[in-house]
Amino acid sequence: MLSSTFTLPTLNVPAFSAASSSMTGPIMRQGPHHGAQKSTSTGTAELSTSLWKLSSVNSRAFPIVGVGSCRFSGGWFRDTIRIRSPGGLDLSRPAAAEYSGLTPFRPVGVGPFPREEKNMPTDVGFPGNEAGKRCWRVRRADDGEIVAGVEPLGWDPAAVAADEVVIRVEAAGFNYKDALAATGHPGVMRVSPLVPGIDVAGRVVGGGGLASGAAVVVTGNGLGETRDGGFAGFVRVPAAAVIPRPAMLSTEAAMACGTAGLTALIACDRLAMLVDGRHARPDEEWLVTGASGGVGMMAVAVLAAAGHRVVACSRKLSAVVTVTALGAAAVVRPDEIIDPTPKSLVKGRWAGVVDTVGGPLLADVLRAVRPGGAVAAIGMAGGADLLTSVHPFILRGVTLAGIDAASIPTQAERAALWDRLADLWPRVAAAFPVTRLALDDAGGWAQRMLAGETMGRGIVIPE
Ligand SMILES: NC(=O)c1ccc[n+]([C@@H]2O[C@H](COP(=O)([O-])OP(=O)(O)OC[C@H]3O[C@@H](n4cnc5c(N)ncnc54)[C@H](OP(=O)(O)O)[C@@H]3O)[C@@H](O)[C@H]2O)c1
Repeated sequence: MLSSTFTLPTLNVPAFSAASSSMTGPIMRQGPHHGAQKSTSTGTAELSTSLWKLSSVNSRAFPIVGVGSCRFSGGWFRDTIRIRSPGGLDLSRPAAAEYSGLTPFRPVGVGPFPREEKNMPTDVGFPGNEAGKRCWRVRRADDGEIVAGVEPLGWDPAAVAADEVVIRVEAAGFNYKDALAATGHPGVMRVSPLVPGIDVAGRVVGGGGLASGAAVVVTGNGLGETRDGGFAGFVRVPAAAVIPRPAMLSTEAAMACGTAGLTALIACDRLAMLVDGRHARPDEEWLVTGASGGVGMMAVAVLAAAGHRVVACSRKLSAVVTVTALGAAAVVRPDEIIDPTPKSLVKGRWAGVVDTVGGPLLADVLRAVRPGGAVAAIGMAGGADLLTSVHPFILRGVTLAGIDAASIPTQAERAALWDRLADLWPRVAAAFPVTRLALDDAGGWAQRMLAGETMGRGIVIPE
């Protein structure tokens, strides 16, 4: 049975879809019967609070362009506001101006985090109460409706299959992919029902021949896509997917980095190999787009640590201080780096680019890469289509390199990247924004992430 459950109509999100000049997506708001929230049923008060937060935040942030209907299992939420998303392709929009009135979603915890775990437990065992045996699960109904909420785990953490490890989840990173899964995006949510959460940090309970209590991390390996992920008190993972958590990374720091940090490292390594130094100029610049996001912020820090002059591109004025603290020499809005002329090549400015946005911004950036430069294409929050010409590639020798963090060939390579994240973290911790979320917050956070409202990394703390 679902407790604290709400329904989400299928969302139209920009990733995996053709670029359009705007997008609409539904959010829920309390309907005329919200007085019913005073119901004393278990979990209902918590739910209504969390949904009210979502409603009040979004209704102030976005222009309402239509009203529809929304089914809610508790019967309280009668209507849906259709919003024009800031995640459309109006790249000149200064997002921060729209978001400045937002109520903080949750208390935001900003590092520094402890560099070492104190009082490491050696015997994890199972929780004596049921509190840890919960998860945030998404279901896709036959009619396409998405139903999501906090549910009992539904399996016994003590029953460990031979080839699996059971981990008590201490924190789970909230990646863009998780936001897509949380809203039932079929490109990510490959099975139904599904517990999202592609990144997990926790303690081994049993299985895989690993010591009980060992501090571990797992990223990818189908978690949160084809099998249940980390938005739960416990998770079962393939034994081969488990990596020891570096001692110098706390649980929360590990999840603040997670797939975002691994991806940033892979992209920057790739650029280091590809950018042709023979064309280097002393004043040359490296660009990071979507700089306020998890991957973007980590990429700014990695490139700055490598000694590059980094220009961070963000739609959010509110990100300026943070990305500057992470090492950006300058922060620009997307419209400031787009040359308005329709030429296929414009002044070559960027030596290397970490692009987490894709779509029209990537196409524009490609025109402005200097000879021998390279672009690491990571994300498509801004669109999946790429309308460009071959000119940057054949007239300037520019390389467009695709990054796929999920395909890191070996666990040894993953572990080596984690060690590098542990080295990098102390440079990042004081500035990197981390928002701690409860399981019940997952739906609201996903919507904010897809709307491009979040900064840094959210991490789900299941208990
Ligand atoms: N290839 C891989 O292996 C790999 C690995 C991890 C992530 N990714 C992808 O990389 C992207 C970033 O991931 P993330 O976890 O860092 O996400 P995130 O934290 O949500 O950051 C995405 C950032 O993109 C910018 N953005 C620009 N246009 C947007 C739009 N229309 N809607 C939403 N955001 C928009 C926003 O930054 P500003 O507001 O600052 O512009 C936003 O903060 C995602 O597309 C994700 O799927 C790919």
